[in-house]
This record gives sequence, C-alpha cells and structure tokens, in this order.
Amino acid sequence: MIHQFDTIIIGSGGSGLYAALEASQRSKTAVLSKLYPIRSHTGAAQGGISAALGNVEEDRAEWHAFDTVKGGDYLVDQKAAEILAEEAIQAVYDLENRGLPFNRTPEGRIDQRRFGGHTKNFGEAPVRRACYAADRTGHMILQTLYQQCIKNKVAFYDEFQVIDLVKEGNICRGVVAIELATGEIHIFGAKAVLFATGGFGRMFKITSNAYANTGDGPAVCARRGIPLQDMEFFQFHPTGIKGLGILISEAVRGEGGILRNKEGDRFMENYSPTLLDLAPRDIVARSLVTEVRAGRGIRGDGRIDDYVHLDATGIGKETLLAKLPDITGFCQTYLGIDPADTPIPVLPTAHYAMGGIPTDINGQVVADGNGTVVQGLYAVGECACVSVHGANRLGTNSLLDLVVFGRRAGRHIGGYVKDVDAPRLSDADADPAREWLKKLTEGPSEHHGGHITDEMQTLMMEKVGIYRNEQEMEEAESQVQELRQRYRQVRVQDNSSCFNTDLLEIIELGNLLDLSLITAVSARNRKESRGAHSREDYPERDDDAWLKHTLAYLEEDTVRIDYKPVDISLWQPKPRTY
Ligand code: FUM
Repeated sequence: MIHQFDTIIIGSGGSGLYAALEASQRSKTAVLSKLYPIRSHTGAAQGGISAALGNVEEDRAEWHAFDTVKGGDYLVDQKAAEILAEEAIQAVYDLENRGLPFNRTPEGRIDQRRFGGHTKNFGEAPVRRACYAADRTGHMILQTLYQQCIKNKVAFYDEFQVIDLVKEGNICRGVVAIELATGEIHIFGAKAVLFATGGFGRMFKITSNAYANTGDGPAVCARRGIPLQDMEFFQFHPTGIKGLGILISEAVRGEGGILRNKEGDRFMENYSPTLLDLAPRDIVARSLVTEVRAGRGIRGDGRIDDYVHLDATGIGKETLLAKLPDITGFCQTYLGIDPADTPIPVLPTAHYAMGGIPTDINGQVVADGNGTVVQGLYAVGECACVSVHGANRLGTNSLLDLVVFGRRAGRHIGGYVKDVDAPRLSDADADPAREWLKKLTEGPSEHHGGHITDEMQTLMMEKVGIYRNEQEMEEAESQVQELRQRYRQVRVQDNSSCFNTDLLEIIELGNLLDLSLITAVSARNRKESRGAHSREDYPERDDDAWLKHTLAYLEEDTVRIDYKPVDISLWQPKPRTY
C-alpha cells in the first residue's frame, strides 16, 4: 500500500510529537510508531526538564549553556548549546501553556530542583534548574503532546515498524514500514521524513532503556549511507537498581539523597568536593565503580556484583511520596524496601546515547564533515546528534533537547515542504525491504536470535562499558562481527503475519548489531578519555589530537571513520574540575 504525506515522522516520543505538532500546522503530517505513542520511552524520563527560569533562586541561560558545554567535556557544539539553554525557557512555558501539570512553588510558580552538573555562576555550586512533575516528567510531556497532536489532526500509524529509507542521491523520498498487526508492507512517500526513534541502550546487558530502544532510525540511516556521529559516547547512569538496571532518578540526589560505600562514607567527597553527589553522571558512575573495585562496595548476595547504597532516608517520607512517588514504588516493587527507611542498592546502568544521526540546529541530517545536508531528511532527540551533549549529557537536558529541537525541526519542515514537489513512489521502492524480509523468513534457522542478543549485550557491557581498553574493544569488534555473520543465518520460527513479534525482534537485533559494531569501532578509534568514553590505556583528554567529532560510515562489514570539527566559538576548552 502506498501513502502520501508532506511530512512523515517516525517515532512518537517527545521529540517526534513536538515536531509533529509544529509540522502539522503547515503540512499534512503522519506519525509512524512501533508502539502506541504514550508508551514511548520518553514516558520513562523521571527527574525533570532543565530551564533557567530562576523561579527559586537566581539562574541564567548563559550558566546553563556553559554547564552543558563543560558537562559534555567540550565536545559540545557551543552555539547549539546556547540555543538549547536560551530556548529552554520558552519551551517550558509552552509546555505549561499546553497543559503540563508541573509541581509548583508555594507562590504558584513552576518548582525547580537540583540535578547533576547544573550550577550557578559557572560552576560555583548546584543550582535549582530542573522543572518537574514529581518523578513522571517525561510521562506528563508525552500525555500533553499527544493530546495536542490529536487536536491538530495528526495522522497516527501505531505499531508500524520502519524498515527502510527511500533516498534518491542526496534527497530523501520516504520510508518503508511493516504493519505489525497484519505483516503488510506500507510505502510512505513524503517531502520530509523525520527520525525520532530514540535510543539504543538495549545493546547493553544492564540498561534503563525500554525493550523498544533498539536504534531503528540510526540503523536504517546507516545502512543507507548516512554516517553516525560520536557513537563512542554512551552514558551510564550511576543509579540503576543493582542487577536490574531500572532507573532510580538523579532527582533522588537532587532532593538530598547521598551515595555511600560499605563504610557508610559519602565517597563523592573524594571525587567531586564542590558538587559531591551532583557531579555529572560520567564522573559519578566512574567514582562508584572505583569504590567497588577498591573493595569498598557492599557485598552482594554472592551471585551479583558488589554495589553501593543510595541513601534517601534523610529526604523524609512525606517528600518522597510527594516528589518521588514512582521511585518509592519501584523500590517497594522490585526490592521490597521503603526508601524512606532503607538505603537503595545501586549500580550504573546503560542509559543514554550521546551519539546518533548527525544534524544541524534545525534537525536537518548532514552527510559529511562539511555539513552537506540530505534534502528532506531530519532527525531529533536521542537518535540524533545535534550535538548538545558532546561526550556526556547532563541530566534533564534530554527532555529539553526533545522539546527544543523537536520544535525547531517541525518548524523548519513546515517551511521546507512548501517549496518542494511531492515524490512519486512506486511499489518497487519496497523491493529491497521485501528482499531482506524474505531472507529473514524463508528456510530453516541455523541460529537462535535470542542467543545472539544475549551474547551481544554481555560483550558490549563487559568490553565497551564504563571503562575501556584497546584489547577488550578489539575483542568486542571481532565478536560483534562474528555475531553479525551468525545473524545472517537466523530465520523466524513463527511464520504468521499477525503481530509477529519473532520477526520484529529479529529486525531489532539486526539494528542493534549494526550499531554495536559502529559503537565498538568508534570507541576503539578514539585514543583518549573524554566524558563517558574512559580508556584505561589513554586516561587523559587530548584536545590537540581529539577535539573533533567522529563520523562513522557503515560500509557492509566495515566501518569507515571520518571527522567533523567541534564548534568552540564561545568557551575555550579547560580541564574539567567539579
Ligand atoms: O535521573 C533521571 O531522572 C534521568 C534524567 C535524564 O536522563 O535526563
């Protein structure tokens, strides 16, 4: 079946919905999602969205931009960070005006709390910058934007999995998708296509990411010749529930929670004397692992690793229930404890991809280091790399990224589609996708996809995790290659066409394997430590050699590396101290 729209948006999280909201005001817009929109992973974002409103203490957009640049270990494109911080304020008020139920100060203003790496006066002390709706901020953003999209008559194609991009030279013409309910192939012709498919934390064993976070957008783009930027930078959130990876929001520390080792010591005093537990995540995650490696972790139950405690007992039951109700519930459900009186056992969990599809500040995808734009192709949110997070994202800047750049991309699309002709796609445009599906569905299976998934997640966790070195990354690279070979012999065991989750999981695994390879190669290539990329064999940041973005091109079984300059037009890189 062939459909025709001005704008197709793939993904219905915060960035996709915001882009849809804007684009639909000037173009016929559809959103394709493999989920129902309100089940998107944005709904799992807990702690808040940052904006220098200054509602509870003095704050400035300039401080926010600087924190973002420094937090990202100077790999951030600085003009993009300036836009993020400046447009944050209007973005939050827009959400408020559209109905988002933020927590309030006693005077009725949007309340704000502390979060890691957000400071006053260029690093002096933590500042209250995160606007929040209890610990359900992402969930509330989704609900708000979805309602507005329905009001704007955006067309929704729920439970459609995108499998290919239709491109003619440097112009994007549409996408091919499979309808999960029927197995039918659909072709969507569009003047503009925007990817907003979220992250790919499912390449790691322990992750805070939803099962759906399999990097479908970046993988589809990579296979169509689009480079992926800065894929070596993957953030581990310091506080996942030990063994499970379920996120315990940084907001717990923002409200006064303290990390303690087995002696009960507040160990962050030794690693970040100024910001303590509210240092940026890369620093806290490494500090936590260092404590455990030094034997100061708390002995687990003999089957899992040592861990540390997140002590929220000083926050008080009333505040926990009012401001962190979901966290309180998670602790009761998954650990059988009440965080008001028992410390929470935590370990780092794979949380956020700083890298992704490279874009300019309007969400237009760029195809090379010179900034050549792919006409009609856009990306926003976690699947994209604009790059406002550089080598390490600050907490609460991801919801902000979704809203600010989702809005900018949607507006840009509204202007772009006015001046271009609608592409005429034919049934033959889906032939490469059909060919690929045929390979996955015909003949006996030599390997089981589930085993490959397990092996990939374990090796990525162990060899391309928080601490990295040459030998392990080389092993990871060749093991992922071997898994990709085995993947070619995987076939579905269920041949039905109605909600074939076997097929869906195999498609997703193919995406994760391609992204794992690109991540491992990009990480091994970068011979320095910066932000979340921490190499034991190259422990220092090396601005002379490595102050540049990686562009990785997937070329069949190899990954070709190129580079792109970093915009450092506002602040010169300095050593990072907190
Ligand atoms: O800790 C958190 O609530 C996560 C927020 C984020 O990743 O921005």
